Amino acid sequence: MERANGKVLMTLLSVNIDHIATLREARRTNEPDPAAAAAICELAGAHGITVHLRGDRRHIQHRDIKILRETIKTKLNVEMAATDEMIGIALDVIPDQVTLVPELPGEITTTGGLDCTHNQPAITNAIKRLQSVNIAVSLFIDPAEQQIRAALGLGASTIELNTARYSDGTLTNRPTQEGSEALDAVRQAAELAHSRSMRVLAGHGLTYRNVRAIAEIPEIVELNIGHNIIARSALVGLDRAVRDMLALLEETKDVPPRFHRSGGI
Ligand code: PXP
Repeated sequence: MERANGKVLMTLLSVNIDHIATLREARRTNEPDPAAAAAICELAGAHGITVHLRGDRRHIQHRDIKILRETIKTKLNVEMAATDEMIGIALDVIPDQVTLVPELPGEITTTGGLDCTHNQPAITNAIKRLQSVNIAVSLFIDPAEQQIRAALGLGASTIELNTARYSDGTLTNRPTQEGSEALDAVRQAAELAHSRSMRVLAGHGLTYRNVRAIAEIPEIVELNIGHNIIARSALVGLDRAVRDMLALLEETKDVPPRFHRSGGI
């Protein structure tokens, strides 16, 4: 929500819908459809949609991002490795934003930030090619001073701070030293990046329980959240989904009551 004076009143949310595609790919079928999921997220008020096009195509496919490019009305952010193949796809699809992430074969999820102190030619080259067609570029980095300084040196104006360590330290509501140290690191990194005029985003592992402290950091303007939102949707949507199936099955048989298992509890 933006005030008339341009002040932002809330932290923006981009919903990562990879897991919708994970569910589809579990059966190699045609549902659930990421484009339908994206529309629901947007109707619910999400400010953007994020997907990760992985080299192994385990969830989101090239076709998905082409369709999402056509259907998304907010902002399409595509996470990808800084490889020639991926940059070529980005130049073909032209998402609003590309987030460069490290990618390790076989990893369950992104395991750390991009190391901007290494691989500099590949990252700079990717940034230049993407920016040449007006794609905004964000670098997913760990909340560490040397990474922010290196990202600046590479010409990045937007970063996404990796909150994985904070998330690991806040799996329950019980305060932990790891959680509070990790929160301090995110806070300090956000301040430093903002003081260098960078746009600061954050994400990874954020949940309904731990998001508040991150969202309250004034310099962080946008969050990317996936797993916890999709996990919750499976639970809050399951009751309705079962009732919908039962409604279809109702009155399909003329069976005496004693053969019915009792409905409800
Ligand atoms: N940011 C980046 C760069 C990611 O790779 C991911 C996971 O795909 C996220 C944010 C979202 O993390 P989560 O699914 O744990 O909310």
